[in-house]
Amino acid sequence: MKGDRVSEKSRLITVSNRLPVVLKKESSDRWSVSEGSGGLVTALVPVLRDRGGLWIGWPGVTEDQSGGLRDVLRKAGLDSGYQLHPVMLTQEEFDKFYLGFANEIIWPIFHDLHTLCNFEPEYWKTYLRVNEKFARVVAEQARDDDYIWIHDYHLMSVANQLRELNVEASNGFFLHIPFPSLDIFLLLPWRNQILSHLLEYDFLGFQTQRDQRNFLSCVEALAPEVDLRDRGRLTSIAIKDRTIRVGYFPISIDFRDFATSAESQEVAEAAWYIHEQLPDRKIILGIDRLDYTKGIPYRLKAFRKALEVYPELHRKVSLVQVVVPSREDIPEYAGLREAIEQLVGEINGQYTRSGWIPVHYIFRSLARNELLAYYRTAEIALVTPIKDGMNLVSKEYCACNLNENGVLILSEFAGSADQLQNGAILVNPFDIEGMAEAIYEAFKMNADERRKRMRLLRKTIQEQDIFWWVDSVLSAAISRDLTYYPVLEEYIPKLDIE
Ligand code: G6P
Repeated sequence: MKGDRVSEKSRLITVSNRLPVVLKKESSDRWSVSEGSGGLVTALVPVLRDRGGLWIGWPGVTEDQSGGLRDVLRKAGLDSGYQLHPVMLTQEEFDKFYLGFANEIIWPIFHDLHTLCNFEPEYWKTYLRVNEKFARVVAEQARDDDYIWIHDYHLMSVANQLRELNVEASNGFFLHIPFPSLDIFLLLPWRNQILSHLLEYDFLGFQTQRDQRNFLSCVEALAPEVDLRDRGRLTSIAIKDRTIRVGYFPISIDFRDFATSAESQEVAEAAWYIHEQLPDRKIILGIDRLDYTKGIPYRLKAFRKALEVYPELHRKVSLVQVVVPSREDIPEYAGLREAIEQLVGEINGQYTRSGWIPVHYIFRSLARNELLAYYRTAEIALVTPIKDGMNLVSKEYCACNLNENGVLILSEFAGSADQLQNGAILVNPFDIEGMAEAIYEAFKMNADERRKRMRLLRKTIQEQDIFWWVDSVLSAAISRDLTYYPVLEEYIPKLDIE
């Protein structure tokens, strides 16, 4: 029977849109490759090495530019102890699958922004073709006793194709972004196909209880023939002769690595230098990929409102807003950049005085030590996405806050708010006046309360780090074991503030 040979010792095949590598073209057919640095890679590499495993994904360049790449990836795979298998995309596939279906349809609609969608029928056809392409590479590699773990919204139809290709290995899917409510999901022209493709997986993981609940209500509405059982943190769905399981598992970071790196001499010096340049000032930090889901314009308006309502903040705070370039080929993203830059210009034009610039705006990605230095030194972090699957910036900031004196202002609509609600100041990211008040509250908060809150935040993140997340997902998916996975209410420590 399908999947009955999977065990804790099974080889792990990880599949994601991007391969976890950083490529640099040295000449027309010579590449240098280094391992990527995200939390998912850090957590999965030991598992892949232990069990012998492979990672399948798109290397990040289109087919016409990829001369010599296969060899270099094969070699990089040998060096890192697990294999890397590329799925090459043509320019047309990149445009219609990645920019098109994934990022102009699924990304906005799953973040409740259906008005930003471009429901182009060609995109769907290409999405299916590219998912099939991924499935073919998986099918070439998979043995019956492997476990296939597929990641994120680019690849929701891969299990369906694997079935067509008679792949027997057991599989699971993790959605890193939110799953929308029924009313929003119904707007999607391909809602029935996507739902039935998701139900082809043996295991489905979401970030939060809300995402799991949204998914289950879509199943109840659109697939009434299936049977939901044992509703809870790991709900079973019986479909004909199969049972699939659906759970929620909040992803995290390598807490220890962030905390120890933030302690280094280089970071300490860089942090000192940042404050030296902004003497006598509290730094409020925003760090985001350029994306309309991050709520940057509302945040800037809230900062402006805070300066207007509380003149006491003048010269005493500066907002450092870092925006990391992303998906710039999509018109919506280019427009957002203009809107942000205009607001920054307006605020600085109105409030700058000799010796004080209210908003320091950085449009580039930061080197790791520079990023850690900002995390370590900022007194307040302003993390206010209008919707976010998890949001790792909120967790990274706390991990690097070694003095435990920082304040996290966090959107209610970030997935991380479930775990961090008791230590953070929660805000509605659309409420400009409410966020302005939160900024003032954070500015005035006494040292004792700051320490209590930050300690609590750091404890939660340390206990539920990325290794805990991988263990939780894999043990629930493969062994149906929930030992690593306490009930949500039990693992949110309570804050003790009079
Ligand atoms: C989100 C998605 C990831 C994606 C990342 C960067 O976090 O969940 O799957 O890789 O954004 O976006 P990009 O389009 O550059 O891969």
